[in-house]
Amino acid sequence: MFKNLFKKIDSVFGIQEESDIGPEEKFFFDVVGYSDIKKLFMKSIVSKEPVHILLTGPPASSKTVFLLEMAEELNDAYYLDSVGASGPGMVGHLFENDTKYLLVDEIDKMKKNDQAALLNVMETGILSETKLKGKTRQKKMKLWIFAASNEATRLIPPLRSRFMELHLEEYSFDEFIEITSRLLKKRYHLERIITERIGYSVWNKMKSKDIRDVIKIAKLTRSLSDVDWLVDVQMKYGRRKDP
Ligand SMILES: Nc1ncnc2c1ncn2[C@@H]1O[C@H](COP(=O)(O)OP(=O)(O)O)[C@@H](O)[C@H]1O
Ligand SMILES: [Mg+2]
Repeated sequence: MFKNLFKKIDSVFGIQEESDIGPEEKFFFDVVGYSDIKKLFMKSIVSKEPVHILLTGPPASSKTVFLLEMAEELNDAYYLDSVGASGPGMVGHLFENDTKYLLVDEIDKMKKNDQAALLNVMETGILSETKLKGKTRQKKMKLWIFAASNEATRLIPPLRSRFMELHLEEYSFDEFIEITSRLLKKRYHLERIITERIGYSVWNKMKSKDIRDVIKIAKLTRSLSDVDWLVDVQMKYGRRKDP
């Protein structure tokens, strides 16, 4: 079930105290915070019967990161982004491969007939597809569905009701700074004084709550003065954020 978990634990945590780090922290290494949600996902992953989970929340709240971590770490996982995905794509894939964990990003943008196919699998454990000339093919499957979307209101109600729905709130300023700092230290090995300055400037000067803006600046930052300069240039020429 878990592809690389133990390898990753050894390589990443080999020299650290392991006692206070649960397996979910190692599994979802790229997600900062949300330890309870990580734990819940782990419970569902190892559960005998599928429990489907839907993450909702504003842009840049780590929904996609959650799904991609699972795509990378789990065997028999299939990740798809519903934007631009075509119907036969998903259903066809499920027919032709043994998928246990279906990871659906932007599920609210999934076509209604795909949503109906998923609903059917959740209901009956049977995937079915009616082809031209009324021919039907069917496949029995036990499928866990982990999905994400900014809004859940566009899902057909019976599908929505079959998910355990978890809503991620927009980050507070303190959370924003904390996530920024931990993420930038881990990814770009930047010092706390620099990461805090980036977080502070993006939030207060650029009026953005998007961690992606933080990452763009961090990639070009070598020193504290780089931060101010990069933010100034962004302020001068960048796209204005809505207040
Ligand atoms: N809690 C977090 N832990 C790690 N990265 C985060 C977190 N929140 C936001 N990010 C970063 O913000 C960016 C957007 O996250 P993403 O998962 O794509 O957001 P969305 O919720 O829109 O799918 C990514 O680069 C991601 O690394
Ligand atoms: Mg996303």
